[in-house]
Amino acid sequence: MSDPLLLPFQLGAMTIKNRIVSTCHAPALAEDGMPKERYQLYHLEKAKGGIGMTMIGGSSCVSPDSPSVFGQLDVSSDRMIPYFREFAERIHKEDCRIVCQISHLGRRTTWNDGDWLPVIAPSRVREPAHRGFPKVMDHSDIKRVIGDYVAAARRMRDAGLDGVEILQNAHLPGQFLSPDTNLRDDVEFSSKAGNIDKATSYGVKLKSNIRMGFIGVPDAVIGLGYIYENTKSLDQFTGLIRKFPRKSDHTFNFNFRHDITDIGLSYGAEGKFRSDTITQDINYYWPWNPGKEFKLFAEYNIIDGIKLRAEASQNGRFNGTSTNYKYNDHIKFNDLKTKAVKNHHFAREFQISLQGTF
Ligand SMILES: Cc1cc2nc3c(=O)[nH]c(=O)nc-3n(C[C@H](O)[C@H](O)[C@H](O)COP(=O)(O)O)c2cc1C
Repeated sequence: MSDPLLLPFQLGAMTIKNRIVSTCHAPALAEDGMPKERYQLYHLEKAKGGIGMTMIGGSSCVSPDSPSVFGQLDVSSDRMIPYFREFAERIHKEDCRIVCQISHLGRRTTWNDGDWLPVIAPSRVREPAHRGFPKVMDHSDIKRVIGDYVAAARRMRDAGLDGVEILQNAHLPGQFLSPDTNLRDDVEFSSKAGNIDKATSYGVKLKSNIRMGFIGVPDAVIGLGYIYENTKSLDQFTGLIRKFPRKSDHTFNFNFRHDITDIGLSYGAEGKFRSDTITQDINYYWPWNPGKEFKLFAEYNIIDGIKLRAEASQNGRFNGTSTNYKYNDHIKFNDLKTKAVKNHHFAREFQISLQGTF
């Protein structure tokens, strides 16, 4: 018995008799969403064979808006308790631990199953595998789904299981954690319970405006600005320190305006450069490209109080090509579905307006 594989393992408060585990999967043996005889016997055989822990219920569904689309167990109501209790007793008799994986699939599920409810996700980013457009979760959805996870975990405890596993990865928790699928700006980085333990942000903001009298043009003003912002947060799951999503470290801006009051004409230009910005459309999201924006304008006083303004702007977030890889399932399975190479061009806008002040 010196083989480490056969030595006991301490996982939190739980001792497992050896290190042989059957990991979570949905074996398509559920009947009516419940682990009945066939499902239980499938795991019981492994327990009889001597494994230390069996993890049942791959992606078991905690909420009605995450229906059982590939034969997962339904743990969203107390209906499951008697089946799970019987299951746990059977497995425990073989001196084996039993843990269930619980999950909400978020944008990874489909709407046309179960109760035909809308697919929900942190943001409206289309899911490549099932191709649904998710509804953005509002605050009541977030509270409700957190409550559903808690209720499912409580049911497992009441049924006598040894624990639950929360699938993060591409499911709802992972969709909140990834800047690819969470584009929300309502996430509060405050020190509320359950939120991020540690986050820091520091930087400098410099601003200057100079009237250009020193070169004989006192009606012209030039302004320059620079913002440096260093943001860091502690990822409580991985323990890694990383920057806030979608925050630019460096932002430069300039503006110039010249009022030639004698002839009633003003003109000017503005520009902004960011070291990090995002490009996104309904399917794609490329963070961290340098970005720039320019604006030119001219205003002419036709008569007192009425002026004609022409404006041209260029939003140059990204110009060039980018490559985006999409996988059928998980990237680790390396089943590449499409490789999208996109050409991006600056967006340009022209505007002519007549403005009156009365
Ligand atoms: C059909 C099938 C369904 C699976 N479903 C899940 C799942 O719902 N949740 C999960 O975390 N892993 C799931 N997995 C991954 C397995 O738990 C396991 O990590 C993976 O198969 C690698 O282990 P192996 O090399 O022993 O197969 C699934 C795997 C298979 C083959």
